[in-house]
Amino acid sequence: MLAAGKSVRFRSQRPKVLHDLCGKPLVVHVLDRVRAAGVDPIWVVIGHQAEAVRQALADQGVDFVLQSDQRGTGHAVQCALPRLPRRGALLVLSADVPQVRPDSLRALIEQVQQGARLAVLTAEVSDPIGYGRIIRSSDGAFCAIVEEKDADDGQKSVPEINSGIYCFDCQALQEAAASLRDDNQASEFYITDFVEIFRSKGWAVAACRSDHPQEISGVNDRCQLADAEASMQSTIRRGWMLAGVSIRNPETVWIGCDVEIGADTILYPGTTLSGKTRIGGACRIGPQANLSNASVGDDTTVDQGSVIRDSAVGSHSQIGPFAHIKQGTRAGDRTRLGNFVEVKNCRIGDDSKAAHLAYLGDAEVGQRVNIGAGTITCNYDGARKYQTVIGDDVFIGSNCQLIAPIRVGDRAYVAAGSTVTDDVPDEGLAIARSRQINKPGRAAQLRRKK
Ligand code: UD1
Ligand code: CA
Repeated sequence: MLAAGKSVRFRSQRPKVLHDLCGKPLVVHVLDRVRAAGVDPIWVVIGHQAEAVRQALADQGVDFVLQSDQRGTGHAVQCALPRLPRRGALLVLSADVPQVRPDSLRALIEQVQQGARLAVLTAEVSDPIGYGRIIRSSDGAFCAIVEEKDADDGQKSVPEINSGIYCFDCQALQEAAASLRDDNQASEFYITDFVEIFRSKGWAVAACRSDHPQEISGVNDRCQLADAEASMQSTIRRGWMLAGVSIRNPETVWIGCDVEIGADTILYPGTTLSGKTRIGGACRIGPQANLSNASVGDDTTVDQGSVIRDSAVGSHSQIGPFAHIKQGTRAGDRTRLGNFVEVKNCRIGDDSKAAHLAYLGDAEVGQRVNIGAGTITCNYDGARKYQTVIGDDVFIGSNCQLIAPIRVGDRAYVAAGSTVTDDVPDEGLAIARSRQINKPGRAAQLRRKK
């Protein structure tokens, strides 16, 4: 896989092939497709920003070849050759064709297994500008690939283009590798020149035309990245719809490639599901819900504008509208975390509720607990974070502050408006506010003063 080039048109500080497409880096899509075609082992040729690419692919089980100065696609292959086996079929492609079909890769490999020394995947496109053209003789035989820069007007009018995806017979490639020359407009070593070199040796070369021209479209700039994503999103959404998920205004819904969704779930407009998000069956998600690495049980509503990040909520629960659940929170079944409730790094038991306007951080909340509106766990003293523990069947009234570290025992009550600084025992009632004073007639007196 060739990934050493500079990708000038992408205008990015980061390597192009590491940019995200539907939830994973461009290059990883290509690796997955190459593996799906049964190709192994894989070498990635790196050069420009080599370290960043190497690090990002560290867990991909691939080997790397360094091409320290980039002198063309043919030179990239020359750099890799000493590391490659002497025999067998070698698939060569660039790291920016995320929609290539494993079937097409297999077809190229089969051509080589059946005797071709080189097979190229081609496509007929309406706008061939920028691509190498496939030159055929009058009887249709494949003769050469001519780069746009080196093509004459006749050649430029050819609609059949080189996809940049090839399969070589390794032994032939090793033998011919030194014959490449850089006597062209770009002064580069072109991999495409192997077509003529092989033919001059009498070796069979094949050009396989793809029936799906879309698959070879490369990602050279951010417009093409968006096009590739739009096409892939459409495929992902259709896949889920056919699997039983309803999607309202589907073109407004974004679903990452590692997401899973159960049947009979409805996704409402503007919803984004990313990372390793798992959603059960018969849920209602959105509109405008934003879930990333979230796990949601069955029959749960994640209502409008809610965010769930790196957290799990159980089944038959009601989240939002406008709830924010994050940082490893685990909420049980039949829970309710309602509007303007923020929950960070909490365990929340089954049947517990914080229905409105609360902040729960670093808390362990038991089962059947009610957290009143406006209640917050004061978990931070400016330096450290502290834990709040709330037992089962606890009732916390509205607008309480629980100053952590603190424990509220099972079946305890905390009166509304309390600032709780000491542990509350099981079954206890804590009232932590100043007592009310009523001054009879005082209101009229105040009014007269004005
Ligand atoms: C190449 C083909 C062209 C084909 C097109 C398809 C050549 C000479 N031309 O052109 O016929 O239609 O792809 O997209 O091959 N790379 C390296 N090292 C280098 C140069 C490039 O690793 O020294 C890598 C790039 O990172 C990229 C791939 O090779 O992944 C293709 O290089 P690029 O410069 O994009 O080739 P094109 O001009 O598009
Ligand atoms: Ca290219």
